Amino acid sequence: MNCVKIAVLVSGGGTNLQALLDAQESGLLKSGRIALVVSNNPKAYALKRAENAGVEAAVLTRAACGGQEGFERALTSLLEEKGIDLIVLAGFMSILSASFTDHFSKRIINVHPALIPSFCGKGMYGLKVHEAALQYGVKITGATVHFVNEVPDGGEIILQKAVSVMPGDTPELLQRRVMEEAEWIILPKAAEQICAEMLRMKGEST
Ligand code: GAR
Repeated sequence: MNCVKIAVLVSGGGTNLQALLDAQESGLLKSGRIALVVSNNPKAYALKRAENAGVEAAVLTRAACGGQEGFERALTSLLEEKGIDLIVLAGFMSILSASFTDHFSKRIINVHPALIPSFCGKGMYGLKVHEAALQYGVKITGATVHFVNEVPDGGEIILQKAVSVMPGDTPELLQRRVMEEAEWIILPKAAEQICAEMLRMKGEST
């Protein structure tokens, strides 16, 4: 393995996918290659971003697969068929079961739009995270990239970056600032860090 094969799982706009694609283009992400994008939402704009970048994309929905188990079975087959080494959850709005996360242990990372352990866990995703941060009145929030295990947002932390909450922030304004100042920076950085580490470990074992 001289380059880690990455699959990016998405559900929506795909700005974090775009940050990864841009990092690949600029050479910041050099130890891994985005080989596949999988969306669980056929209408996700992220699919257009994959197409624009010439990256293979697939749509898999729970409904079409007959539920969560069927979805994860189909996803596992696809990832294995494509020889994927690392799975990046970039705005992927579905919780994966313990059997899936165990199967890909230390091979799945996620970006969460808050400083874990604040404003995270089941039901905390997207704008809800920023609504909760504003409701609580925190003055600092941020983003976290972490390994994914069976506990939602509970895996080992890889990188975090703090972002200030400003007077007059709305959830939308705060979401945008957290993306710009934290997520789009630490997700590509963490992906490169993990890919480089995977290459190093592979080199040592051969
Ligand atoms: C991002 O803020 C991401 O951190 C968050 O959803 C947004 C997706 O935006 N993910 C979660 O809340 C997952 N727990 P994007 O589709 O533009 O990357």
